Amino acid sequence: MAVTKRTFDVVVVGAGGAGMRAALALSEAGLKVAVLSKVFPTRSHTVAAQGGIAASLGNINEDNWHWHMYDTVKGSDYLGDQDAIEYMCRNAAEVVYELEHFGMPFDRLENGKIYQRPFGGHMQEYGKTTVPRACAAADRTGHALLHTLYQQNVKANTNFFVEWMALDLIRDEEGDVLGVTALEIETGEVMILQGRATLFATGGAGRIFAASTNAFINTGDGLGMAARAGIPLEDMEFFQFHPTGVHGAGVLITEGVRGEGGYLVNKEGERFMPRYAPTAKDLASRDVVSRAMATEIKEGRGCGPHGDHVLLKLDHLGEDVIKHRLPGIREIAMKFAHVDPIRAPIPVVPTAHYMMGGIPTNFYGQVVAPYKTGPEEVVQGFYAVGECACVSVHGANRLGCNSLLDLIVFGRAAARQIIEDLKRNPHHKTLPHAAADRSLARLARLEVQQNGESVAQVGAAMRNVMQKHCGVFRFPDLLAEGVSQIREVAERVKNTVIQDKSKVFNTARVEALELDNLIEVAMATMHAAAAREESRGAHAREDFPERDDKSWLKHSLYFSDGSRLDYKPVRLKPLTVDSFPLKARVY
Ligand code: FUM
Repeated sequence: MAVTKRTFDVVVVGAGGAGMRAALALSEAGLKVAVLSKVFPTRSHTVAAQGGIAASLGNINEDNWHWHMYDTVKGSDYLGDQDAIEYMCRNAAEVVYELEHFGMPFDRLENGKIYQRPFGGHMQEYGKTTVPRACAAADRTGHALLHTLYQQNVKANTNFFVEWMALDLIRDEEGDVLGVTALEIETGEVMILQGRATLFATGGAGRIFAASTNAFINTGDGLGMAARAGIPLEDMEFFQFHPTGVHGAGVLITEGVRGEGGYLVNKEGERFMPRYAPTAKDLASRDVVSRAMATEIKEGRGCGPHGDHVLLKLDHLGEDVIKHRLPGIREIAMKFAHVDPIRAPIPVVPTAHYMMGGIPTNFYGQVVAPYKTGPEEVVQGFYAVGECACVSVHGANRLGCNSLLDLIVFGRAAARQIIEDLKRNPHHKTLPHAAADRSLARLARLEVQQNGESVAQVGAAMRNVMQKHCGVFRFPDLLAEGVSQIREVAERVKNTVIQDKSKVFNTARVEALELDNLIEVAMATMHAAAAREESRGAHAREDFPERDDKSWLKHSLYFSDGSRLDYKPVRLKPLTVDSFPLKARVY
């Protein structure tokens, strides 16, 4: 079947903060850029980021990038690569000022400077006391950021393909990346988008879990495409549970609530975090707070008729602070928990939030994988940034507000690298004859398959397995069962059907195609978690409760073909400063 081809200098998949920051720099450099998005760009999941973007501006208390770097290395439980972390923290102030100059409406202090609030794990003087480092636009920072970048991209003539879903990565015989196949959701047409560079900025995959703060579009599309094309996925066992998802709904309540002075209480009304983190208390890193909450619930101090959540108290902050600094939170609490936080606490539980792992890259956004010669090297033409990438700056646990920072720092860095690389590669390579075959076969299967289970049924099975077997605490028997159950689900995914094809909308096809991606992520997460026999950051094993630097200070690489795992060393050497030596992590 003939498939239409369109040709660009750069094909960017994903229109969240990372994709749009990269696209802006690329378009401004005069390149012809296509940005594909399953949704209207300003509905990308970055829009849901609430509390802020981290940068050591020191607008309220003294701060500097080296303290930020220390906090990030410590927050990562020493699994983050220290060169990439230095790069991110050193560039933070500059990229925030750039956003300010693009017109991003940050909140302001009396003196006109950007407002900053404290966030978990961000501290002064190498862990002594919390510091306001989150640059905020009320509790809608991601919304402000995304709209600003979209407007700048419109001005820069970026080409948007709205409601298009990328299907598969196109690699030639040498393994170089030449673009993607994509589906126009409205018409069902499949097209090839060829680029001299292809940049994935497809976001996270929180929808592998039953309870998630993530949007329904967060289905790990970039990871699925990469895995099917033979690229390994790095550190997939590390999935962050945000402490404060609304109980029963999963919607995010920003850590900024605790940054403004809110705190968690158990059924006895006790503020319990000081027992777990005497210095940082409710502003310890997320893995620490989520485990503390899960322990309170497990030990019978949970709230409500089933004792299955704790309460986030903020009424003492007063109506003015809540209405001015946390207006979105009040709206969410009233809509999803039926409480007005001016008067009553919000019921919350740890909820799947962020994937620390992803497509392996260096800090120029270049994908790095075993490839032509065997050992890992840069995959020509392929770049990844944002949550779908593993740089790795977050290691085993990300600090709040470092995600928006990651998007902007590495979105810009990847664009700069692409601009240089394209000067050396002025021509498009020849597309392989079979460039669209894999995608066409996936779609054809959905058309012809007659007997099988519905996509919804198999998707629910996957989410339930992940939720039960790969949660905040991980148990040996549950992990072993989880591996065999998720393999069974993966087999069922191959036989899903779209019922009553005469009436079906393309959204049903999209859900089926998304499930192909989700299952790749779920398989990687479960296998890597079962294999890592230690506790580090967000990966907490009941049978191996300690961090084991001797055996496990290494990144995992999961290969979809054969569910094979390999490992590679952590980069402990920063760019210009001394390494932060390994030590026990206490808050
Ligand atoms: O709590 C929050 O506002 C989330 C921020 C983040 O994940 O970085």
